[in-house]
Amino acid sequence: MQKFYFSVFLVVLMFFSSYSAISGVVVDQNNTPVPDAMITYTNIANRVVYVYSNNSGKFCIPAPTEWNLNDLSMYKTTLCETQIRKNFNNNTKNSNFNIAINGKSLFFTINQTSEKPVSASLYDSKGKFIAVLFNKSLDKGNYLITLPKNLSNQVYLLKISNGSINEIVQIAVYGNSSAFSLADKTELLNYPNGIRLAKINAIDSIRVGKTGYAATKIAINSYSENAGNVKITKVDIERRVDSLLSLMTTDEKVGQLLQPSGASESSAKTYLLGSYLKGEGSAGPMNGALSTRLKIPLLVGNDFVHGGRKVYFPHNIGMGCTRDTLLVELAYRIYAMCCIPLYNNVNFAPCIDVHRTDLSGRVYEGFSETPEVASMMARAAVRGTQGTDLTSPYTMAATLKHWAAGGGTAQGKGHGDVNTAPNMGIISQIHFPPFRAGVNAGAASVMTGYQSVFGTPMAVNTQLVTDTLKNKWGFDGFVVTDWGTSSGREVSCMNAGHDLFMTIDVNSFPNIIKNALSNNQISQNRLDDAVRRLLRIKFRLGLFENPWPDLRLNNYLDSDIYRAVARACVRKSLVLLKNENSTLPISKTANVHVVGEWADNLGYQCGGWSATSGTGDEGWQGSSVAHGIPGATTILQGIQSICKGTVTYATNASNIPASANVIVVAVGETPYAEDAGDRTDITISTDHQNLVASCAASGKPVVTILITGRPMALNTIPNNSKALVAAWLPGTEGGGIADVLFGDYNFTGKLSHTWPASNSQEPINTGNMGDATGSGGNPLYPFGYGLSY
Ligand code: BGC
Repeated sequence: MQKFYFSVFLVVLMFFSSYSAISGVVVDQNNTPVPDAMITYTNIANRVVYVYSNNSGKFCIPAPTEWNLNDLSMYKTTLCETQIRKNFNNNTKNSNFNIAINGKSLFFTINQTSEKPVSASLYDSKGKFIAVLFNKSLDKGNYLITLPKNLSNQVYLLKISNGSINEIVQIAVYGNSSAFSLADKTELLNYPNGIRLAKINAIDSIRVGKTGYAATKIAINSYSENAGNVKITKVDIERRVDSLLSLMTTDEKVGQLLQPSGASESSAKTYLLGSYLKGEGSAGPMNGALSTRLKIPLLVGNDFVHGGRKVYFPHNIGMGCTRDTLLVELAYRIYAMCCIPLYNNVNFAPCIDVHRTDLSGRVYEGFSETPEVASMMARAAVRGTQGTDLTSPYTMAATLKHWAAGGGTAQGKGHGDVNTAPNMGIISQIHFPPFRAGVNAGAASVMTGYQSVFGTPMAVNTQLVTDTLKNKWGFDGFVVTDWGTSSGREVSCMNAGHDLFMTIDVNSFPNIIKNALSNNQISQNRLDDAVRRLLRIKFRLGLFENPWPDLRLNNYLDSDIYRAVARACVRKSLVLLKNENSTLPISKTANVHVVGEWADNLGYQCGGWSATSGTGDEGWQGSSVAHGIPGATTILQGIQSICKGTVTYATNASNIPASANVIVVAVGETPYAEDAGDRTDITISTDHQNLVASCAASGKPVVTILITGRPMALNTIPNNSKALVAAWLPGTEGGGIADVLFGDYNFTGKLSHTWPASNSQEPINTGNMGDATGSGGNPLYPFGYGLSY
């Protein structure tokens, strides 16, 4: 009888491991292949599953697979099933072996002679090793790779490695291995992410689209079919913009510029609004806009900067430590999918400021102190938010903020001046690359910040808005002001190149602009340019065809996939700073005493820009409410669910149980956003230093977890801790911390900021880029630092 069960089990396994995929070629109306189109399952549960067509328009979207969501070991071995293409930033140094397909041959390129042997190995889609195809020392040049004969039609992973640098691509083999396409570039190391696909319930259809084209849906009859040529038709957006513009009165044009802080059906109609801030779930304003003469739909903007509503991801500073562009792309797709069903179509994200001092209250909003890390993440975040198809129900417009050099103000002051380098050349080398990367990735909008640059406020900075961004870089989306920055200087703000005006007074603003037009202070061309840019994005978003969100997305706000991706982000964002005596990982059978309010407080874990109070507040400054979001997990709860020993908890260090084998203490900052977080001293509080010291006085090993929006001067904390973990502002998935503390996953995070040894070292950054520095000396931990156990 037992034998019988065993063989049934095997059959099931074989069934699930057979791999099927839908392949095809995306072409336009002239049958020309369309690269970089987005292919998505339309089944709502699988909306995070997508691939992009390659340079020859080919795509291969593997069948969704059902996963056991509770089996962590499964995530470790089967993650290559995540069929989301990783898009390497071509500028990143990682892209060492340029793997390419030319005709029917597969090549890779080496740019410099390798000292170590270079190997090429083949794996199946689940990461199971198949064969070494190549292994020798090579001069620089192009090398042909021969695939084994008799490969079946499925997705394989090809890994090229020289021992230290790995590059992985997915290749989809079809036609009995005589033909194949590059489906993906990804890193093998990234697979233990915990990302899974959900079950697809029925054979469905796939959606093929690209910004600027009318999308197509094709029915799927089986998951192993070749869909052949899939046609998408180019839309002449510029012609549509021009023709609509030619119908508009001045009042209608001026209305397009307005973005008040809220709207109703009647205000949208009365003021001919083009936009408003913070869609909160009402169809009213859009209905109002659609009942005007020209029925121009609204742009609706909101700040989903690290997820929202039920699942919050680590803030960008932690995402920068993952160095994982696939995870960032996925995360931003999920932020969009939580934001969209509140009737929003523009996310005021990503913040890609390169913060050069940790004194700023916005450090955590940016990915890194280096332009390189910020740039690769900027591209990934734009790809995540917008996909390559803005008309998709799962994408929205991204906003790059805060142009220009928002992270470069003196002392990190939110409203300060960027004068932290001797000239604009240096400022531009440090602060502009992520914006350039975001613009190149197709970002629909850019927000200017509160700062001034060498004395000129960004609100009126023609040189940086019009000359650099629009003229020099060719940015063709719209530029939005920050909150109220046009106030009192509306005309110069518009003449500087702003197209959309956040939080203006709808009663006075239109008259100011109309008067300026009649006095020739604003030209007709400038007005038309602004409106043209706004309409262009509305057409690209497909709002004229369908201005309504897919409200079914509201049913997935805390779906397992969202939580799993967020948890994977948490794991990879953690940076292990110290691990004496192999204190980590903690044995799952140890008795763990957890200490500190920060260990059991979601509000603290999420930081600013998080509605964690449970009252539906907007959450700008965050909250200190411990358990405001049902289904979320604090650090303590994460530990409780993984640890099999006795877990005890206290907010202070007075009653440490004698039976405890290890103490996990969490300390950090209380939430803040923007100027409320600007500091002159970033030394962690004495209370928190004392708390860690009291834990250490017990003689038990102490693991300290830092919940902070920035690196802080830690004084006595490192010495009083056997292990030290920077957890940043990890969001709602505290389980991700427990995963790593107890050894289910190792630490991989690398610091995205230099960690100062003392406050006086601020500003302290890696390398010498020519901008301001503090007192000098060695940092406590350098940029890029991060241990594993
Ligand atoms: C912030 C922006 C944000 C805007 C709208 C401003 O205070 O600086 O980052 O997008 O508010 O909420």
